[in-house]
Amino acid sequence: MILVTGSTGHFGNATINFLLEKGVSTNEILALVRIEQSGDDFKKRGIGVVVGDYDNYASLVNAFKGVEKLLFISGSDVAKRLSQHENVVNAAKEAGVKHIVYTSFQRKNETETSPLWMVAQSHIKTEKWLKESGISYTILKNNLYMDFLPGFIGEKVLESGVIYVPAENGKVGAVLRSEMAEGAASVLATTGHEGKEYDFTNAEAVTYQEIAETISKASGKTINYISPSAEDYGNTLAKYGVPAEVIGIFSSFAVAQAKGELDGESANLEKLLGRKPLSIKDFLTNLYTTAL
Ligand SMILES: NC(=O)c1ccc[n+]([C@@H]2O[C@H](COP(=O)([O-])OP(=O)(O)OC[C@H]3O[C@@H](n4cnc5c(N)ncnc54)[C@H](OP(=O)(O)O)[C@@H]3O)[C@@H](O)[C@H]2O)c1
Repeated sequence: MILVTGSTGHFGNATINFLLEKGVSTNEILALVRIEQSGDDFKKRGIGVVVGDYDNYASLVNAFKGVEKLLFISGSDVAKRLSQHENVVNAAKEAGVKHIVYTSFQRKNETETSPLWMVAQSHIKTEKWLKESGISYTILKNNLYMDFLPGFIGEKVLESGVIYVPAENGKVGAVLRSEMAEGAASVLATTGHEGKEYDFTNAEAVTYQEIAETISKASGKTINYISPSAEDYGNTLAKYGVPAEVIGIFSSFAVAQAKGELDGESANLEKLLGRKPLSIKDFLTNLYTTAL
């Protein structure tokens, strides 16, 4: 039995669809949901539904009973994630789960000086708990979702002609979220992944300068890249009414990119997908050609 947490979210839902595509039968899949009725669509498709909340340890032990493989999708509430993830790992141990596949994140700096420490610390701790749990594990080190790149680039980029992000010349190896989910499904549906850590990063990482050049070529408009200081970036976004929390997240990722934290290139996903993941340049070319 394979249980997918975060099944109502983008990553989990896509993984379940890829598991079915790969021939895993509906009665071998369980979807973990927080509220019973969130599982109605899964039930209609013959997929089992169990109720559990990362904040409720007993609910997790109950939900994980009889589960062989658990896709543990990191929680979305960063402030509560440490205790939630501890609950998941301990509950999996108590319930006798055999193998956990965990969606972690890519990084180089594992100290508090990391611009992404807010996000990083719970992932790093969770990986440690997994390794100490005695349960067999696979860690997926996810780069930035490529789906988020247009948000950094700015929705009015073709009008403004400017990409304004404090990422300097740092590279990002972003991957389409659905392709990461497909990779996760491949890990769950096949054997030989015990104790492995896979970098879910693209085959080619790029700078925002290269991104600007790609969009220029695709759209026929000249797009310039400006890398301001993080402070100027924050002030400019605030002037446009962007909430402080959103500015914080965007700044952290951009500054992390400037420092090389997201600069990774790997063939791990290519092996799992049986093809190269969609490149950042092709993704942007499709997006900004059709935007014309
Ligand atoms: N690599 C990246 O660029 C990147 C970017 C953003 C996020 N992430 C991480 O990747 C994860 C998956 O991404 P996504 O796009 O699929 O996120 P998403 O669409 O927001 O889905 C999050 C899922 O987690 C579930 N969840 C949240 N809190 C929970 C709790 N207390 N107990 C049980 N389930 C809970 C949600 O359930 P409900 O439907 O009940 O809310 C939902 O199914 C995120 O949670 C985050 O940790 C990575």
